[in-house]
Amino acid sequence: MSTQKVTITTLGALKARGEKAVFITAYDYPTATFADRAGVDMILVGDSAAMTMLGLPNTLGITLDEMLVFARAVRRGAKRAFVIGDLPFLSYQPSDECAIRSAGAFVADAGCDAVKCEGGARVASRVRAMTDAGIAVMGHLGLTPQNLAQLGGYRVQGKTRADAERLVDDALALQEAGVFAILLEAMPAETAALVRDRLRVPVYGIGAGPHVDGQLVISHDILGSFVGDISPRFVKRYAEIGRGVEEAIREYAADVRAGRFPGPEHCYAIAAEREAEIRLARHDLAHAPSTPVSTSV
Ligand code: KIV
Repeated sequence: MSTQKVTITTLGALKARGEKAVFITAYDYPTATFADRAGVDMILVGDSAAMTMLGLPNTLGITLDEMLVFARAVRRGAKRAFVIGDLPFLSYQPSDECAIRSAGAFVADAGCDAVKCEGGARVASRVRAMTDAGIAVMGHLGLTPQNLAQLGGYRVQGKTRADAERLVDDALALQEAGVFAILLEAMPAETAALVRDRLRVPVYGIGAGPHVDGQLVISHDILGSFVGDISPRFVKRYAEIGRGVEEAIREYAADVRAGRFPGPEHCYAIAAEREAEIRLARHDLAHAPSTPVSTSV
């Protein structure tokens, strides 16, 4: 794996060579650092931060300012990976100008390489406005959590031929509007393959099967640190960080309560005579007649 910074050209070259791109979410400096060291190609600062980091019930409540805090931290940790800031709900829907300003903040302020927004033909004008402003944009189709109510909940998309063809039309509209790549979420592998086969730009998937140009996972899902009850079929666990954290803190609490922590090895040592002097001071204080505490300033 090359240590050179990943760019849109790198991603296009991976697709051309038939090599899968590795894509993961991160929201903080340590996770971004570890993911970057592990050699991922792309990091998404997803609005899933609303749920993974802020404990909100869905992605609708997170603000652009909150997303920018996460994005700056990720950018500091990701030296090689291509970093994408996820435009949160209402940061691009109101107008083309609003979309350019929000996307511009991810790029100019947080240092992201690109942004992502949800939707197909209906956001094509926003995508065109951002790409015309010189910002790289990733599209996102299928299960798009910012319009969860319209979709009727977390449901698999593109299950019929007509639905799959609608997804192709949306993907073509996004490609026409200038996206550098499209992410497909929660759909049958055959539907994702149909979309991928019709497009020129790379097509990545999360819960969209293997016939795409790369895979995205939510870091909390694969690391076992998501606190919540959503567990999609497509998640594979690679660690149990949440369980490990809880066990470690329980052990620490038990040590404190039993007087096992801190031990002598966790204390700062000084010369024996100095220690004796300070012990004497404590003794003197304990046996001195009590003096009233002054309240004057
Ligand atoms: O916010 C996010 O992590 C996402 C993925 C679920 C696609 O948009």
